[in-house]
Amino acid sequence: MTARSTTLPWWKRGVVYQIYPRSFMDADGDGIGDLQGIIDRLDHLAALGVDAIWLSPIQPSPDADFGYDISDYCDVHPNYGCLETFDALVAGCRERGLRVVLDGVFNHSSDKHAWFLESRQDRDNPKADWYLWRDGAGGRGPTGAPNNWASTFGGGGWEYVPEREQYFFHSFLKQQPDLNWRNPDVVDAVEAVLRFWMDRGVDGFRLDVFNAYLKHPDLPSNPRTWNPAGLLYPYIGQKHLHDRDQADMSIALEMMRRTVDEQPGRFLVGETLDEDRRYREAARYAGDDADQLHLAFNFYLLRSRWSAEVFHKAITTWTAALGPQGWPTWVLSNHDFPRHASRWGGRWADARCRLAAIMAMTLRGTPFLYYGEEIGMAEHKLPRGLIQDPVGQRFWPIHRGRDGCRTPMQWDAGPAAGFSTGEPWLPVHPDHATRNVAAQQDDPSSVLSTYKAIIALRKHLPVLQVGDMALTESPHSAVLAYTRSLGDARVQVLLNMSPKAQRWPIGGERKLLYGTHPERPVVLEGGEVTLAPHEGLVLGNEATL
Ligand code: GLC
Repeated sequence: MTARSTTLPWWKRGVVYQIYPRSFMDADGDGIGDLQGIIDRLDHLAALGVDAIWLSPIQPSPDADFGYDISDYCDVHPNYGCLETFDALVAGCRERGLRVVLDGVFNHSSDKHAWFLESRQDRDNPKADWYLWRDGAGGRGPTGAPNNWASTFGGGGWEYVPEREQYFFHSFLKQQPDLNWRNPDVVDAVEAVLRFWMDRGVDGFRLDVFNAYLKHPDLPSNPRTWNPAGLLYPYIGQKHLHDRDQADMSIALEMMRRTVDEQPGRFLVGETLDEDRRYREAARYAGDDADQLHLAFNFYLLRSRWSAEVFHKAITTWTAALGPQGWPTWVLSNHDFPRHASRWGGRWADARCRLAAIMAMTLRGTPFLYYGEEIGMAEHKLPRGLIQDPVGQRFWPIHRGRDGCRTPMQWDAGPAAGFSTGEPWLPVHPDHATRNVAAQQDDPSSVLSTYKAIIALRKHLPVLQVGDMALTESPHSAVLAYTRSLGDARVQVLLNMSPKAQRWPIGGERKLLYGTHPERPVVLEGGEVTLAPHEGLVLGNEATL
């Protein structure tokens, strides 16, 4: 171990595994995943070799947005168990050296949260100013929305409440009212929530759409853009100058950073709303300053098409935006996007999933992997009648919603894929008969075996955790190539993303650390290697091992 690898925090060196609790494992047979189910499957995660689990929201929720509408920040959803089950989960994780990260959904609460129920009663109650209330455009009463702000989930962003004769703003569903972060009581209340969970052993938080916490204090309308789609979907017909990314974001972020930093080893990773390729915006929120988060997500890579050249661009752009001191995150899939096995897969799904796994685990930065991606789970195209996600219900067929990436984890070939003894809340993917953890366990060429091997290699080699990274200068249409280096140790990663053999020059890295085609001896001729179609190689020099 070099000094650098031991001094960098675990959340830079490690791998985070995202669990969507409704869909991971159901221990009580009601068709909905639960915390006991996660406990029962912890050995799978330990064997996979990940360092932490991030749980999508586990708190009580009316589930208008499946957990992202929290009605009590300091309890556990009855579907998932109770606080004691959570404590048992933390204990089970500790036994296996796993950390626990929670989703922090603080841009909005549920409209059934006690804070909002009180706030909506009248204009003078103690929580009257905890949400964004305004008179209508024409004064008190239902006189029209106060400004043109829209909901990310479609339609306008304002909802009228007769008791107050006022409107409240919601960035998402009307069941998800936005909190008023300019009220210091809200800042204090969120601090108390962070402490509540940290006292129970939580190691970090993934902050949901944190860049929308603060809005312009005067709530001016956003300028319109000339996007014709804005007629149907007003949100994309505006420039979001006033409803997110405000200059005084530090009101929220300083409190969060200070609270989480009180104990070493804890961290914050933020999801920026609507960031798509807005890597610069995401990058400016991550760093070591008092009002920055430890890490930020960027989904440029996830949104790229399958191409070594395009990945090269996504990787260089995101890392350059973060600067040499910045620390990237890498995400291939999550609970909001179609699974990458289907986005990139086609007839080479497994080969591509294996190459993508090597890429995510060997790039400089922290990889976040989404449950099921370790077996190459595919997107499930559900018929309209089975759609539960409010986004799919509203936008079908333009957007089929997000249920397709949230179907039950495929553990075995059994009736509900080993997920539940009951009827799962979303149907299991029909390919579970062949694509499941049990089937891939002992197959060295499976997606699962690739994940295990490459995560183990990352764990074993400090150079892969913390080493510098250099991509080949000019992007290549078929091969993504980069080196990692730390002291004398050098690793060369070569990923042939095409269905044709490719020749590639190599330097002093001649030891095979991992290869996707173990049956095929790696042919090194002179200064070149021949990569088979879809072959991935991780090569090291003498100093690496
Ligand atoms: C984030 C979540 C998404 C949720 C939304 C509202 O983008 O990832 O699942 O619907 O915020 O909370």
